[in-house]
Amino acid sequence: MRGVSFEFEAGKVTALLGRSGCGKTTLLNLCGAMDFPTSGEVLIAGKPTAALGDRELTALRRTGIGFVFQFFQLLPSLTALENVELPLLLAGAKNTEAKALERLRWVELEHKANSLPWQLSGGQMQRVAIARALVHNPKILVADEPTGNLDTASGDAILKLIRRAASEFGAAVIMATHSGEAADIADTRIRMRDGLIQSVETA
Ligand SMILES: Nc1ncnc2c1ncn2[C@@H]1O[C@H](COP(=O)(O)OP(=O)(O)OP(=O)(O)O)[C@@H](O)[C@H]1O
Ligand SMILES: [Mg+2]
Repeated sequence: MRGVSFEFEAGKVTALLGRSGCGKTTLLNLCGAMDFPTSGEVLIAGKPTAALGDRELTALRRTGIGFVFQFFQLLPSLTALENVELPLLLAGAKNTEAKALERLRWVELEHKANSLPWQLSGGQMQRVAIARALVHNPKILVADEPTGNLDTASGDAILKLIRRAASEFGAAVIMATHSGEAADIADTRIRMRDGLIQSVETA
């Protein structure tokens, strides 16, 4: 990334668009505090990520940021409910099962709580992944090609949930995508090229 300056807003969906290799995943990793810039700053709620200690970073990644990936990344030996519950357990939360179940209900998969990932369709796996990403009410939802491995109908259902993550949970949603449908649901579209922001379009 070079010379990128942008503010991602709470309650809004921002789409990162551009050819393979233009830097979308790199920017997501910077926004998710998974990577750090060699120069410049990434501020989350006003704090530079590079200034955070290990403990603060872990807490931020665990509870302040939700991640959704193209290939779902569910733990294969855990049930849908356990996958959603895991971030709560890691954070030492209370009433973890009830909270996880509530999120599964939100993605309309309460009836699949005891299913293992291989027993679910791709769209269902991604809904579980979204429930997991939102179980802590994160301030930021980072989604890297969330519909890239789904058929149109399943992809549309995922995009509706992603929109609601912004409107109901107030998350700043940052989504990298190659899909026109996904770009269409965004409030702001950032077109990238060779590590630069080429244009910004706000609906
Ligand atoms: N850790 C790294 N160090 C150096 N270069 C990297 C690193 N990670 C990615 N790159 C390079 O940075 C560029 C941007 O990669 P990135 O994965 O962000 O692109 P992308 O827009 O997400 O592409 P795609 O659409 O294929 O997912 C690529 O040229 C890649 O090889
Ligand atoms: Mg990428």
